[in-house]
Amino acid sequence: MGSRNMATLTKENPLMSGAAKTLFPQPCILVIFGAAGDLAWRKLLPAIYNLNLDGVLPSNFAVVGFGLGAKGDPDGWIRDRAKEGIQHFSRHPFDQRRFDDYARALFFVEGSFNDAHAFERLKAKLEVVDAQFSTANNRIFYMSIPPSLVDMSVGHLKAAGMVRDNEDAGAFTRVIVEKPIGHDLDSAREINASVAQAFHEDQTYRIDHYLGKETVQNLLVLRFANSILEPLWNGKYVDHVQITVAEEEGVGSRLGYYEGVGALRDMVQNHILQVLCMTAMEPPFSLAPNVVRDAKTEVLHCLRPLTPNDVETSVVRAQYIAGEIDGQVVPGYRREVADYFAKANKPIPGDSTTETYVAMRVFIDNWRWAGVPFYLRTGKRLPKRASEVAIQFRAVPQILFNANPDVPLEPTVLSIRVQPEEGLALRIATKLPGPKVRIYPVKMEFNYNTGFGGSSPEAYERLLLDVMAGDATLFMRRDQVETAWQFVMPILESWEHSRVRYLPEYRAGTWGPLEADKLIEADRRQWRTV
Ligand code: BG6
Repeated sequence: MGSRNMATLTKENPLMSGAAKTLFPQPCILVIFGAAGDLAWRKLLPAIYNLNLDGVLPSNFAVVGFGLGAKGDPDGWIRDRAKEGIQHFSRHPFDQRRFDDYARALFFVEGSFNDAHAFERLKAKLEVVDAQFSTANNRIFYMSIPPSLVDMSVGHLKAAGMVRDNEDAGAFTRVIVEKPIGHDLDSAREINASVAQAFHEDQTYRIDHYLGKETVQNLLVLRFANSILEPLWNGKYVDHVQITVAEEEGVGSRLGYYEGVGALRDMVQNHILQVLCMTAMEPPFSLAPNVVRDAKTEVLHCLRPLTPNDVETSVVRAQYIAGEIDGQVVPGYRREVADYFAKANKPIPGDSTTETYVAMRVFIDNWRWAGVPFYLRTGKRLPKRASEVAIQFRAVPQILFNANPDVPLEPTVLSIRVQPEEGLALRIATKLPGPKVRIYPVKMEFNYNTGFGGSSPEAYERLLLDVMAGDATLFMRRDQVETAWQFVMPILESWEHSRVRYLPEYRAGTWGPLEADKLIEADRRQWRTV
């Protein structure tokens, strides 16, 4: 694949350099378990293609897929599949010559995760590829497989002698664990324990792709590389914070996974709580992975635990019903469930109470944030795909320009747009030109694409490089995952006990249920228009 040497990497590629730390991706083989699956097709194989095109992969590098699903010659099959995935989903346009360079280092081993012989075949293939590409016995195993297969896979890897201690002869073995990490606290602990049978914590990279998004990473730079923001970043100046992750897409083809999981487990327990941590954490004393992760974990520890009564009053769940998106009529979630199971010739479950929307108010009980509500919301089939973190500052006193209580001034808001147009905006009050004093809110905006040109690397690109470089800063540590589950468990338990038959509804293409508006309006605040 890429043939540049590492000295040029740090100079040329902003992904890889920074005043604070410099990363070097090491030669290795990336082994993708479940390479025939959706994630590999849409995200991982295109991400590697983009990294190759950008010339930032280690010079000695190869990819070996493992799993079931190949038809005919396994290597030819995975190359065709990668090509198709890249043509559909890659950030950089497809280029046959560059693809050929990529494809010559892409292989597939067909085998089942419960078959010890298949693991022996994988081992033999890795040895051959290692010799061919001089990857120095370094291996990264990417578990892009259902959680139920992780224990078995890790066990076979270990039994086949494919897991070395980091220290062993300088070669590394690392494992990447995909979400969902568990269905609840107990199952998360089980998955973590399974992985820990074979891998030390410093070999384990639990991925949360939101942490690889440029603007989520920029939260730290924004806060700690600018002198004007951090002094204001606390309850003395901040009225409240809103974190929104809105999706236009419905559950669609992922229904088999989503039904019984829902938005709280799918989005809040991981992505939204991680973004919350980046927004609220204390300044770490260095950028060393564990120092940053300690600071984030503290936020989770400071989240005020929710009592059953808090769940009633501070958490809203809802489900979409049929509606219109971009002029197209789309079905409701229950209809999709029925169609999905009918098509799969499986018994259709009773009326689903899986939530496709969650809104909640949480508090972080520490000195910085005491009394400041954080409003979190996420949902599918909302009017558009738009995610942001918005810091709303306190209103100015009701004197001078804000003297009329019937027309209060719009407060100052700093919004960090995570997607789709990455950027940030500061809304401030200004005087409209003219003889009268009329105040108007204006936005000072920065947009990544126009500001820096070109497209930002996809989250998976950044995260894969970090694993190759051995930098775990943007990955979830075991205790973080378990602490995040601890926080959401009272909500899951309350919902379980309530046994409701219908959830509040929202029409597809609208901004969620009335109950969510009431939640924030009870505090005399409003959801932002994103
Ligand atoms: C995944 C969830 O982790 O994140 C999906 O399982 C969700 O349900 C997706 O659609 C959102 O990711 P992104 O990067 O498109 O915002």
